[in-house]
Amino acid sequence: MTLATAPSRIDRETIAARLLEARARTLLLVTPLSDDDLHRQHDPLMSPILWDLGHIAHFEELWLTRNLDGPVEFVEMPGLYNPFEHPRSTRASLQLPDLAECRAIMDEIRSRVLARLDDADLDASSPLLRDGFVYQMVLQHEYQHGETMLQTLQLKRGAPYTPLVRLQPGDGGVPAGGRALSAGMVRFPGGAVPIGTDDRSAAYDNERPAHLATVAPFWIDVHPVTNGDFLAFMSAGGYDRPQHWSEAGWKWRMETGASAPKYWERRDEVWTARSMDRSGPVDPRHPVCHVSWYEADAFARFAGKRLPTEIEWEAAASWDPATGSKRAYPWGETPPDQTFANLDQLVFGTAPLGSYAANVSPIGCSGMIGDVWEWTASDFGPWPGFESFPYREYSEVFFGTEYKVLRGGSWATRPGAVRNTFRNWDYPVRRQIFSGFRCARDD
Ligand code: AVJ
Ligand code: FE
Repeated sequence: MTLATAPSRIDRETIAARLLEARARTLLLVTPLSDDDLHRQHDPLMSPILWDLGHIAHFEELWLTRNLDGPVEFVEMPGLYNPFEHPRSTRASLQLPDLAECRAIMDEIRSRVLARLDDADLDASSPLLRDGFVYQMVLQHEYQHGETMLQTLQLKRGAPYTPLVRLQPGDGGVPAGGRALSAGMVRFPGGAVPIGTDDRSAAYDNERPAHLATVAPFWIDVHPVTNGDFLAFMSAGGYDRPQHWSEAGWKWRMETGASAPKYWERRDEVWTARSMDRSGPVDPRHPVCHVSWYEADAFARFAGKRLPTEIEWEAAASWDPATGSKRAYPWGETPPDQTFANLDQLVFGTAPLGSYAANVSPIGCSGMIGDVWEWTASDFGPWPGFESFPYREYSEVFFGTEYKVLRGGSWATRPGAVRNTFRNWDYPVRRQIFSGFRCARDD
């Protein structure tokens, strides 16, 4: 058995370049916004954009200046930008600086961070600095808040968000034919499968340690469930038949009155969907997006299937039963870019199935990374032997039965914040996230 190869070592120049690039992207996303757009709380689920910006900077200050020299303890951000002192729903009332002031603070913090980087010992015995872990952690924090801001911008009040730059989806190869139905499953043979990682350069604590899981043979969809598939569920009365829903799911469905994915609207007998400033008839060839865990679970039951566990998802994305080896990404060891998968935000929406020919896992699952986060059947919990590092507030405080795990990243995920072992989590009711799913079934 071989495990995914260790990432090559990072140097100071690379770290500085990545910090610069991350900031350029964050600022690119907010450039089209007015003062009101920046200050306002667009939805109780989300922060004002200026809060995300200030929080990104203060998280960076905490980890890349103060905590680097003191004992490695999480002192947390003081005041305004502390997420635990100010839960999202209360962030409307905070007195936030305007964008110019906020940028000045971001720049000032960044200059101290770069000065400190000059003599950072990336060979240190401390696991915080070694191989640049803490820098990779702060980079991934900024990447993740970029996705959070895109959730906010999709929820935005007033005129829809219009991106400054927009890329076409696809790998530049043969134009995608696309398909309306995701039909087709592949079999995973089962066995003892390595799950998680021992990487300490970029992986989060919740991805560690690598361990063997015993997996029974199962079948999993080749593609994510499409809008076309989901329309079939809807026209079969899926939203109106309690037999397809879990008890909690049916309760959610009755309380919310949901009868379609979020951002879908029925206009003149036609279902339309909106992604940022683009609306149009629902394209059946795209993965369905903005569904809750309950809707995903109901669809799966309707289809005579179930959601995969996160272990099954990771096995299907990473394990090559033919060679007995584990891949870092479905296609291999090459880190993602826009030619591999619909990632990195700038498409501002999902792409038709099959737009990325190389995005296929060893057993033949397509599109596991990119387009939509995929809900799994699993609650968010620790792998056996889990150790919190470097602070409990990233993962450990969220372990339990409240959150479901999502895998694989979405179009709004930056490539540095996703891999086969990456674990995301959210409440099963959430659908402002870029969430879809694929189904599995027993052998
Ligand atoms: C991993 C996406 C669930 O947004 O709550 C950002 C990421 N943690 N700042 C979140 C995160 C701290 C986290 N998720
Ligand atoms: Fe954060």
